[in-house]
Amino acid sequence: MAYSKAWLNYRVVDHIRFPFDTLYADTGNEQIRIAAQELQKAAKELAKAKLNCISDLAEIKRALGKSDDVGAAPKGACRGAVYMEINPDRLSLADEEGYLIRRQACGLVICGGGEGGLLYGTFALIRIMQTDPQLLSKICSGKQTVEKSPANPLRMLNHWDNTDGSIERGYAGKSFFFADHELVIDERTRDYARLLASVGINATVINNVNVRGAATELITARYLPQLAKLAKLFYTYRIKLYLSLNFAAPIELGGLATCDPLEQDVQDFWKKKMDEVYAAVPELGGFLVKADSEGRPGPFTYGRDHAQGANMLAEAIAPHGGNIIWRCFVYNCRQDWRDRKTDRARAGYDNFMPLDGQFADNVILQIKNGPMDFQVREPVSPLFSGLKETNMMLEVQAAQEYTGQQKHLCYLVPMWKEVLGFRTYAEKGATDGADTVADIVSGRLYGQRNCGMAAVANTGDDENWTGHDMAAANFYGFGRLAFDTELTAEEIAKEWVRATYGCDREVLECMLPMLLSSWEIYEKYTSPLGIGWMVNPSHHYGPNVDGYEYDRWGTYHYSDCHGMGVDRTMAGTGYVAQYNEPNRGMYENIESCPEELLLFFHHVPYTHMLKTGKTLIQHIYDSHFEGAMQAQNMLLNFDSLKHRLPPEVFERIHTRLKMQADHAKEWRDRINTYYYRMSGIADEKGRTIY
Ligand code: GCU
Repeated sequence: MAYSKAWLNYRVVDHIRFPFDTLYADTGNEQIRIAAQELQKAAKELAKAKLNCISDLAEIKRALGKSDDVGAAPKGACRGAVYMEINPDRLSLADEEGYLIRRQACGLVICGGGEGGLLYGTFALIRIMQTDPQLLSKICSGKQTVEKSPANPLRMLNHWDNTDGSIERGYAGKSFFFADHELVIDERTRDYARLLASVGINATVINNVNVRGAATELITARYLPQLAKLAKLFYTYRIKLYLSLNFAAPIELGGLATCDPLEQDVQDFWKKKMDEVYAAVPELGGFLVKADSEGRPGPFTYGRDHAQGANMLAEAIAPHGGNIIWRCFVYNCRQDWRDRKTDRARAGYDNFMPLDGQFADNVILQIKNGPMDFQVREPVSPLFSGLKETNMMLEVQAAQEYTGQQKHLCYLVPMWKEVLGFRTYAEKGATDGADTVADIVSGRLYGQRNCGMAAVANTGDDENWTGHDMAAANFYGFGRLAFDTELTAEEIAKEWVRATYGCDREVLECMLPMLLSSWEIYEKYTSPLGIGWMVNPSHHYGPNVDGYEYDRWGTYHYSDCHGMGVDRTMAGTGYVAQYNEPNRGMYENIESCPEELLLFFHHVPYTHMLKTGKTLIQHIYDSHFEGAMQAQNMLLNFDSLKHRLPPEVFERIHTRLKMQADHAKEWRDRINTYYYRMSGIADEKGRTIY
């Protein structure tokens, strides 16, 4: 299927100054060769500059060695050389993945701390060419240098692709990794790797955590040769291939009667299996495991805990240098809605906190950003505040399962920024503000190396990769943010628009506010104040206030004729106790609880007065009317781009914005009607609510 190159779809940038005609690069090294090719391609397509490559090592060394003086650009508009170099000593921080771009007398030098750093430095220069001609000029003339190291060691995508080609929670077509139970490796696979490397993603899991049927067989001889090919290809772009693993494989593949992690037979099975897999796929990064979660098998079946389960796999994989990434999405999914003491939000912490310090060094706990499940607004998972001696990864969801399924525009980087910036108060001694989620998952706070960020991917084989063209901003944004958590949501959005659509001011002026307001708009017309879950069961699209209310999943809003919300204070489920002070007190007290999370933490009467001076019920009505109107306005504003975008791109986005505006009205009317009928309180503004 034809497909776009997304943000790597280079188009000529006017007024670009890229005064180079020679590239010195040791293309005998495969990674340097790839970096060189990328730069040559981008220079040609963006700046119409032809870079002739000189790959003779001696000549490169001679030229580079001659002039090490920084910033001394030769006078006049000289045409010069670009050098690619791997030299950790030039970087202020020794980091294999770090890079430095600076002008020296000999020309422009892209220096990587290692091969990864060189690749990222090259893509950084390309990005600057695409998005910031002024900065490019400053770099080329020696007025500015750029030096970066990734904030997070692991920057990973989790694909939920099944081997039959379907994608769980996939909103952009079918899988491009699998078709008819075979692995697919083609040009698109390479372009996928290029996209990842260009934003700094260095690991990817290609199959669904909910391992079904044939996916269990990925670790069998049938798939290993193809996996080896894929892992090699990825690794040339410094991406480690990971796989989701089925904890029950000893039974399903090994013919054992058990998968008890303390059984010798089970341990032997895994050791042999890991030896076999790594003999065939030495570049494999490791495995992602969903155990004892939503029906998946796990150690609980055998009365073992999660440290015992994870460590057993970790020990088997350790000789090969692999990691076990173990998800903390473990909760009782067979709840009785009448039981108001059991609180699903508590489950992650209750299950994993007692195990802190017991996990092997090559185990990483992967923790969803919130304690529930990727709702439009949740508090940050308290596990980040609690665990201190355990490797942690933050898991976010780029796939818009509960945030409009890539039919609605919902730019999620602002949400991820909030999560990363959340102060955990985990370390009393931490200098002010140095114990945020970003400090923890980057390894800065506890000095860990096995940690980082993962996103459930939002890609598929649709022509534009992400269904909604503008959902690609979440794909792009995740990578950029995971690499550099200091970037703002706005900077990332700007970069994405410019890299994707060129430096057209009108496109930027229209798209930027759309992206930046979209999360809030979506929240307003779906479920404001942190309540969540009012969706149709199973597929999770569209409004259904009681869709999950009397179900077994532990996802309730407890609306009655007096009020709504879940009491998670000490008098309620006690969930607030999982936070450190002062967060605990802040959430416990209805006055200090941030209003956007009010109904997550408190059961509140409809007549409760909010800080705005509105009652809760009036806020619900107003929020839904406002959100639906703003969705309509986005559609109207977008019309101005009719002649500024390729027609098919305009049409695709327009169709979705129209759908969003219509569906927002449906959300508005269903939710408002429900609460009008439930509360019996009319809208002060007299708008039509049935
Ligand atoms: C959600 C989602 C499932 C998914 C699960 C998970 O519950 O609806 O499809 O499997 O999250 O994260 O494992």
